[in-house]
Amino acid sequence: MTIDVAVFGAGRIGKIHAANLARQPGVRLKYVVDVNRDAACALAALYGAQVADVDGAMGDASVAATVVCSSTDTHADLILASAAQKKHVFCEKPVDLTIERARACADAVAQAGVVCMIGFQRRFDPTFSALKTRIDAGEIGEPEMLIVTSRDPGAPPVEYIKHSGGIFKDMLIHDFDIFRWILDDEAATVYATGSCLTDPAIEAAGDIDSTTVTIRTRRGRLAQINTSRRAAYGYDQRFEVLGSKGMLQAGNHRPTEVAAHTAASVSHDKPEHFFLERYRVAYANEMAHFIDAVAGGKPVRTTIADGVKALELADAATRSWRERRIVEL
Ligand SMILES: NC(=O)c1ccc[n+]([C@@H]2O[C@H](COP(=O)([O-])OP(=O)(O)OC[C@H]3O[C@@H](n4cnc5c(N)ncnc54)[C@H](O)[C@@H]3O)[C@@H](O)[C@H]2O)c1
Repeated sequence: MTIDVAVFGAGRIGKIHAANLARQPGVRLKYVVDVNRDAACALAALYGAQVADVDGAMGDASVAATVVCSSTDTHADLILASAAQKKHVFCEKPVDLTIERARACADAVAQAGVVCMIGFQRRFDPTFSALKTRIDAGEIGEPEMLIVTSRDPGAPPVEYIKHSGGIFKDMLIHDFDIFRWILDDEAATVYATGSCLTDPAIEAAGDIDSTTVTIRTRRGRLAQINTSRRAAYGYDQRFEVLGSKGMLQAGNHRPTEVAAHTAASVSHDKPEHFFLERYRVAYANEMAHFIDAVAGGKPVRTTIADGVKALELADAATRSWRERRIVEL
C-alpha cells in the first residue's frame, strides 16, 4: 500500500522532511505546496512530485497525510484543514502562537481521529534518547535537577524574529518539551529573565536573544535552561541530569573525531554547525516514526498535547520575562 503525502512549505525544514519522506518505503511525495512557486517547483522536481495549492492538495482524497513545514502563522489553519479532510498530520513546532488556537487544533484532530505529530525532533536524537532510556532504567536513581544548555551559532534574520512569536515560543519551545520529557513531570512555577546581548536590532524588534529560565516542577524537581542566539563555537546543545544515584550528561556531536595534539594545545572539531547537521538523524527518525504511526495506526511519541503543553510553558515564560515575576501554572 502506498501512502500519498503532501508537504506544505519548501523552505529549510521542508527540504529535510521531503528528503526523508522520499526515502521511506511505501511513501509517495505527491504534492509540494508553497506560496513561493519557485521553491515549490524546485523541491517537487527533486522527487517527482506535483506542485499544488492548499485546496488542491487538501481536496485530493488519495492524500493520506500532510507534513506542515510552512511559516509558523500557517500551522493552525493547515492542521484544521487536514483534520477536516481526515488526513493524518505532522506539523512543525510551534503548533501556533496562541494557546487557544493550539487547543482548538488538538480538539479538531481528536474529533477527526487522525494522527497528529509535532516536530520535537530532539526526542528522536540517538544521544538524547539513550540518555532518557538510561534515566528510565534507574541508572541515576530519581532525577532531581536538569540543566539544559541551548545555544545557536547565530540569530536568524530580524525579519524572521519579528514574526516568530519571540524567543520563548520560537526557540525555547524545544527546551520546554525536553524539560517535560526528561523529567517526566509538569511545571508548577516558571521564572524567566533575559537580555538582548548580541544584536540591538533584535531588541528593536521587541525580542531578546539571551535567556535563563528556572522551573520548579509539581514534584519539587528543579530545571534550569540557558539559551543564547549566539555561540561563537557553533551549535551547543547539552543536557545534564542529576539524580539520587549520580549524573548523566549528553551533548554535542562533532563532524569528525580527529584530534590534533601539538606542543601548543590539544584540539578537535567544533560542534556540528547547526540544527540541520546536528539533528540529521533525529529528523530521519521522527519522519519514519510518523509514517509508522500512519501505516500501523500506532500512537506517536510527540503528540499535539505535547505541543500545547510546551506552548503553555513558552507563554508563561514570556509573561514572566515581561512582568518580571514568577508565574504559576
Ligand atoms: N524542528 C526544528 O528543528 C525546526 C527547524 C527549523 C524550522 N522549524 C519550524 O518550521 C517552520 C518553517 O521554518 P523554516 O526555517 O523552514 O522557514 P523557511 O522560511 O525556510 O520556509 C518556510 C516556507 O513556507 C512557505 N510558506 C509560507 N506561507 C505558506 C503557506 N500559506 N502555504 C505554503 N507555504 C507557505 C514560505 O514561502 C517558505 O518557503 C517554522 O514554523 C519553524 O518554527 C522547525
